[in-house]
Amino acid sequence: MSTLRNVMIYSRYERFWHWSQAVLIFILFFTGLRIHGTHEILTFGLAVTIHTWAAITLMVLWVFTTFWNFTTGQWRQYLFKQGIVKVIRFYAWGILVGEPHPYKKSLQRKQNALQSLAYMTFMTLIGPALWATGIAYLLYNLWSHFAWSNEALWIVAILHTAAAFAMGTFVIIHIYMTTTGKTPLHYVKTMITGYDKVELSEVEAAYLAETKSVDVQ
Ligand code: HEM
Repeated sequence: MSTLRNVMIYSRYERFWHWSQAVLIFILFFTGLRIHGTHEILTFGLAVTIHTWAAITLMVLWVFTTFWNFTTGQWRQYLFKQGIVKVIRFYAWGILVGEPHPYKKSLQRKQNALQSLAYMTFMTLIGPALWATGIAYLLYNLWSHFAWSNEALWIVAILHTAAAFAMGTFVIIHIYMTTTGKTPLHYVKTMITGYDKVELSEVEAAYLAETKSVDVQ
């Protein structure tokens, strides 16, 4: 027998890093586009200063979050899962004709297969491409005297900008996906309050009640 309970699936730290990462990425995209020359809402110098400090803050946040992911075992949530084709089919078609979502959330599987793949790409490709090229950019003065520095700076700028646009695309799709819950704001509320309805087996419910490791309402 299982019961549907209101469970804290996103802990306080998880919500903190999620929202602070979101704010920092918006700031970085906005100031990065100014540096790139897409708009002139800020002066170039101010954009560079804000971009640099927001980037340093984001990299510190990523270090803490990687540590948190490994020490809490939450990294397992991001591993490849079966059933990705069913999830893609749901978002391409099933969602339009009112089919139920093919995946049920559990405490051990908070993300569906498509989400895990998207977040894994974010963490292993887009994120590292941004910080690696960003750090190379920041340290330009250390390698500007080499004969190859002009060509290298050009490559760094192209890769950084390409990764920034990949990040922008990720964010737009991510925001669209957040509106596809029971109501358009359901998933956003979950990431604010931490609570969502999750099917708990009798054993899980008893374990959580006994250990109080996760809050269940
Ligand atoms: C994660 C660490 C990051 C670091 C260390 C970093 C660092 C830098 C630096 C040093 C510059 C050049 C500033 C100058 O010209 O003096 C730059 C430019 C830029 N950054 Fe970042 N950045 C990071 C993340 C991001 C993110 C997350 C985005 C967007 C989502 C982004 C978008 C851009 C863009 C569009 C430019 C302009 C590129 C150009 O046209 O040359 N950056 N970044």
